[in-house]
Amino acid sequence: MRQAGRSLPEYRKLREGVAMLDACARPDMIAEITMQPVRRYGVDAAIFFSDIMVPLKAIGVDLDIKPGIGPVMAEPIRDLAGVRTLRGLEPADLPYVSEAIGGLVGELGDRPLIGFAGGPFTLASYLVEGGPSKNHEHTKALMYGEPDVWAELMQRLSAITLEFLRVQVAAGASAVQLFDSWVGALSAEDYRASVLPYTSWIFDQLSGLDVPRIHFGVGTGELLSLLSEAGPDVVGVDWRVPLDKAVQRVQPGTALQGNLDPATLFAPWSVVAERADDILKRAEAAEGHVFNLGHGVLPNTDPAMLERLVEYVHEKTAR
Ligand code: CP3
Repeated sequence: MRQAGRSLPEYRKLREGVAMLDACARPDMIAEITMQPVRRYGVDAAIFFSDIMVPLKAIGVDLDIKPGIGPVMAEPIRDLAGVRTLRGLEPADLPYVSEAIGGLVGELGDRPLIGFAGGPFTLASYLVEGGPSKNHEHTKALMYGEPDVWAELMQRLSAITLEFLRVQVAAGASAVQLFDSWVGALSAEDYRASVLPYTSWIFDQLSGLDVPRIHFGVGTGELLSLLSEAGPDVVGVDWRVPLDKAVQRVQPGTALQGNLDPATLFAPWSVVAERADDILKRAEAAEGHVFNLGHGVLPNTDPAMLERLVEYVHEKTAR
């Protein structure tokens, strides 16, 4: 459950007075925050505490993550000169990542640690827009109007993302998830022409690492077959497409992840249980299923609801 930690009082307390990106650069904080949802909820896997913007910060991009807003750039990147300021990522740029993961893997024992990175379109959108965006207009203007600049931007971001994932796996992460959260803003045709070649390259490069690879985006009903074509082992589905329909859109042999609407957790428990049952039933059609929310945990979610949900899914799926 992405960003599960931020609904927890113990997370808020630990983060008091520490900026998001500073927390992401401190091995002690990374390890403690990664463990908090595992301890409280007893989930089957931990997700590494970091952010998709961390590798960009690590290569010197001037950016911040503002509370309640998200990633914000000092200077948007909109031309070739800007794109060329994005240098390659080296493991030495983020020693705190390897250090934190090394410690976590010992603490987690048999419980897997999921590493992650942002997908190239989502990273490009933050860089080109300069912050969160509803319409992604500058990003699309660059993609449509200057395909060569776009290609160079995507190549550089894909290489950075791949290296960020490699560092995590080398340190002990046992699965990786590529979050191209905002690709749902694109038509299938534009996705195929301008994003798929790069995500396919990333998954291809990752296949040598021998860890399960998960791919996720939001609002991807029309794109699920293409996300699957990129080559992941698991496709994450938001709540808009029932899993038994999603099965028909992905490649044979692909597992699914999802897909409870995070807002459901604000409804009475009987509704949550009914929806969880429905997801488990529909997931029987899939070649493997990771129960999860369809997107990140909303900040005001009651931790007691999540606790109950994890327990319920464990009971229902116990063999
Ligand atoms: O549970 C975890 O802590 C997992 C670690 C994690 C974070 N971000 C920590 C975080 C993961 C997997 C992410 C991924 C991420 N970051 C994505 C892809 C997944 C998705 O949700 O679609 C994206 C698009 C981002 C960029 C980003 N960073 C956003 C949109 C926000 C939220 C801004 C807000 O406050 O609403 C962040 C900040 C962020 N990243 C938080 C956490 C725990 C909240 C920071 C806080 O405590 O203020």
